[in-house]
Amino acid sequence: MKKFTLLYILALTACLPAVFAQSSSLAESGVAVFYPADFDSINTLPSLAIIKDLPKRDSLPGDWAIKPEFVTQDGKTSVHFDLNANIDLYGTGEVIGDLRRNGADVTLWNTDNYEYGKFDGKQLYQAHPWVLGVRPDGSAFGILADNSWRQEIRLDVGVDIISEGPAFRVIVIEKNSPQEVMKSLADLTGKMEMPPLWALGYQQSRYSYFPDTNVKELADGFRSRNIPADVIWMDIDYMDGFRVFTFDPEGFPDPKSLNDYLHAQDFKSVYMIDPGVKQDSLYSVYQEGSAGNHWVLDSLGKEYNGEVWPGQVAFPDYTRPETQKWWASLYTDFMNLGIDGVWNDMNEPAVFDGPGGSMPDHNIHRGGGDLPKDIHLRYHNVYGLLMVRSSREGIIDVNPDKRPFVLSRANYIGGQRYAATWTGDNSATWDNLKMSIPMSINLSLSGQPFNGPDIGGFTKSPSADLFGNWIALGAYYPFSRNHTSNETEPQEPWAFGEEIENVARTAINRRYRLLPYLYTLFHEAATTGMPIMRPTFFADIEDENLREEQQSFLLGENLLIIPRWAEDVQMPEGDWQQIPFEETDDTYQAIVKLRDGAIVPMGPVIQSTEDYSTAKMTLLINTDENGHATGSLYDDAGEGFEYQNGEFAELKFTAKQKGNKKVNVKIEQVAGAQKAAREFRIALVKDNQIIYSDWSSDDELTLKF
Ligand code: GLC
Repeated sequence: MKKFTLLYILALTACLPAVFAQSSSLAESGVAVFYPADFDSINTLPSLAIIKDLPKRDSLPGDWAIKPEFVTQDGKTSVHFDLNANIDLYGTGEVIGDLRRNGADVTLWNTDNYEYGKFDGKQLYQAHPWVLGVRPDGSAFGILADNSWRQEIRLDVGVDIISEGPAFRVIVIEKNSPQEVMKSLADLTGKMEMPPLWALGYQQSRYSYFPDTNVKELADGFRSRNIPADVIWMDIDYMDGFRVFTFDPEGFPDPKSLNDYLHAQDFKSVYMIDPGVKQDSLYSVYQEGSAGNHWVLDSLGKEYNGEVWPGQVAFPDYTRPETQKWWASLYTDFMNLGIDGVWNDMNEPAVFDGPGGSMPDHNIHRGGGDLPKDIHLRYHNVYGLLMVRSSREGIIDVNPDKRPFVLSRANYIGGQRYAATWTGDNSATWDNLKMSIPMSINLSLSGQPFNGPDIGGFTKSPSADLFGNWIALGAYYPFSRNHTSNETEPQEPWAFGEEIENVARTAINRRYRLLPYLYTLFHEAATTGMPIMRPTFFADIEDENLREEQQSFLLGENLLIIPRWAEDVQMPEGDWQQIPFEETDDTYQAIVKLRDGAIVPMGPVIQSTEDYSTAKMTLLINTDENGHATGSLYDDAGEGFEYQNGEFAELKFTAKQKGNKKVNVKIEQVAGAQKAAREFRIALVKDNQIIYSDWSSDDELTLKF
């Protein structure tokens, strides 16, 4: 008997739960929207996930496969999808465990989850009510439950999404590949904007570099050792008693001159800002917040207070337009000190003495504009998203000619529009190192391309060997930041002795050399929604042997990254050639393989993105069985918005190999008004060797060998 019928009979016999008829429509080709009959638009819309209109346009094609069954009971709604057993499931956001999600369950309730230790790790910092399904033939679908209430996703017999909120709509995307589903998801939920180029560099953090002289020494330490790096992070100890938007008068008496110092060394600075504002009647931010009535209220309508780092704090109610504006305005003086980026943390929100580590479900968010007043249970999962939206606006207001950079710990599906993310408080364990790959991939497959874990692990101190392995992999995460707790040993690349320092330098050098390719991938993500870090099965979506491969991953379409520790990796078919980089450290460095048929542009080693240039580029080429290869480059100023007025260049590379003697490469600018003189050389990768041509500024290159 079909589950629907069974539930219906159950509903009739027990009077509960009630199964209602539903309506559906095709909003566009391959995108269906399903509405339960008791759809509660007031309590589930406007959507903070979907930014596109979903008109009720056409009826569903007769053969539409993925259809929900809604059940509503006591004001709570669940939805079930029957699925064939041979479908592989992915996504569901930030999760621990295997890449393939079949059999898993997660609770979507943003949670400060130290060491992923609470709730069996099934409830982390972000909420993505989203499942990606891939069939044996490679065709794929996505399911998005469009509501922010606390909910659970069970991937057991089919897909169940059980929400604690009222009846919501469900969007189903149906496409002929998972790649097409990802693009469609980005079309619906928005794309990451191009970040500043410096955010692609290697970044160094700890809780906390203190005082400012220590930060300067750290910057000097990178430059004197020739280890490339772009960003130094200031964790909470820079503040005066953990009061946001203040500076410790002893440790950070002159942040402007600290930032000037860092800039002179080609570093950028990112500073942490948490949402909780210390309840302190002598503190201007608290005074302003109270005068402006900006705080989240308790169920009785009084200012809600809970404990975070500074002691008792009040929480801005980002559902209020006035509060968003006020919060954005706090960044003016702050950013004017020469701060380059902002780190929004604890924005689940984390409350040490609150129920489940957050605020009570019945706290009140007053809303305004298009957001209605409602309880915390509805707004909890979007608290972080609303915070970073407002932070981002504030940052753009101060520096309208710069691309904003915000890192957020909490977020919600669609949050890639406002912030990059990291995976919270992991640990220095082999298990966490290995798990970081499926974790980052599933976040990527949930619409967030700019992510990565704390390299080296946040809690505990890694052994030299573990750190060596982690940095050798971490150089390839989209977001590449080393961060550790206040109770751990030093974790800078040189803290583990000379051998590991060399390992770190080599790995980071490779990231910087691959920046032209990486930046091109960021551009692809920003324009199409394709993830930067992709599962290996994207190389051949019909090869079912690849569906569980989670030690290796793809960086874009053309590079396969295989950590040195990986065993029995399932390789996609084809003649993937290992890139024999000049440095020869084979104990730790990840193996980087170039797809046959691919061209990857590579630059020289530089110490920071300040020195980035595409004036001289090596084209790594692996021709396919027909002797062909193609590749591309996206280039712009790396900062600012002139690229939106055509100030960019998109180059296309086409290679043809003739017999075993000659390769010709054609270079064409296919888009953009940027005119730049560039030199190239061919680097043909073959049998663990590279054969180079001479440098040339012509638009046709030849390599004879
Ligand atoms: C949280 C963050 C961590 C940070 C610490 C202190 O635990 O996840 O990254 O270092 O707070 O601010």
